[in-house]
Amino acid sequence: MTNAKRTTLGGSFTFPGTGTAVNRMGYGAMQLAGPHVWGPPRDQAQAIAVLREAVAAGVNHIDTSDFYGPHVTNQIIKEALHPYRDDLVIVTKVGFRRGEDGSWIPALSDRELIEGVHDNLRNLGLDVLDVVNLRVGGVAAPEDGSIEAPLSILAELKAQGKIRELGLSNVTAAQIAEGQKIAPIVGVQNCYNLAHREDEDLIGTLAAENIAYVPFFPLGGFTPLQSSELESIATSLQATPMQVALAWLLQHSPNILLIPGTSSLVHLRENLQARDIKLSAEIVEQLDSIGAVTKSPVGATH
Ligand SMILES: NC(=O)c1ccc[n+]([C@@H]2O[C@H](COP(=O)([O-])OP(=O)(O)OC[C@H]3O[C@@H](n4cnc5c(N)ncnc54)[C@H](OP(=O)(O)O)[C@@H]3O)[C@@H](O)[C@H]2O)c1
Repeated sequence: MTNAKRTTLGGSFTFPGTGTAVNRMGYGAMQLAGPHVWGPPRDQAQAIAVLREAVAAGVNHIDTSDFYGPHVTNQIIKEALHPYRDDLVIVTKVGFRRGEDGSWIPALSDRELIEGVHDNLRNLGLDVLDVVNLRVGGVAAPEDGSIEAPLSILAELKAQGKIRELGLSNVTAAQIAEGQKIAPIVGVQNCYNLAHREDEDLIGTLAAENIAYVPFFPLGGFTPLQSSELESIATSLQATPMQVALAWLLQHSPNILLIPGTSSLVHLRENLQARDIKLSAEIVEQLDSIGAVTKSPVGATH
């Protein structure tokens, strides 16, 4: 497949110690599965259209997992985009499996991690995975504890050539430091958005090492961001609140990569346009105060 010259969405970022660069405005594929990230999508044709339009618009970083669906999201990505463009970086994660009732069950044993990597390879139709994040901790917040055993298994799979690069998800600073002794870590994916700012210091520490920080729930996740301040700022900029929330993240730190999730073409287009919004220092200060004052939980209403 030819790679036509395309715009860099939000500028580009090169993962540390690699020649792999992605545009900072990427796409998160979790919303492509059915309701509650379970089963097939309500509208398969639209799911495929969203992926194809994202890539045609310049998105070259897609975040996924084989436990979305399960298997469904990766199968849709393969159907929509395989054979993949040379510049497309698909980042996946292992560390959960799904119960028959749709529950999210930690899957961090050696066998589960190895199976998770092979499930991703098979369902994405790849021989090697670009980046695999080890996902640990609770549903939306990290939990203390060693990650040595599961990360060592992924490092072994990397040595076998099944994985190019490793990242960590839902981790503490101590776990990142522990992980870096086991393998190079190119990115960290934790919960962070305008209203959920616990990782403020961590983002700066990672930026100093040029390690990507990829916020999950950038728009508030299952409880989309709602804030009267955000709404009035968006109105003053003739933008939507979600666009302003994404523009704020892009301006917040150069190592932040965006993976907003949507199953809607309209929302996809809206989100991609956030790259063109320039926030003044005064507006950034107002937006900063939304999360800084309250330290609200994800998606809290103000
Ligand atoms: N590492 C982890 O543990 C972890 C956890 C969660 C997510 N993730 C990754 O992070 C990505 C992003 O997270 P997320 O999708 O859960 O949450 P999100 O990006 O914060 O928000 C997605 C929600 O916002 C809605 N939305 C998107 N664009 C919108 C817009 N312009 N206006 C109004 N509503 C909009 C979506 O609904 P519509 O579909 O209707 O647009 C969906 O309900 C996921 O896709 C996944 O790849 C990782």
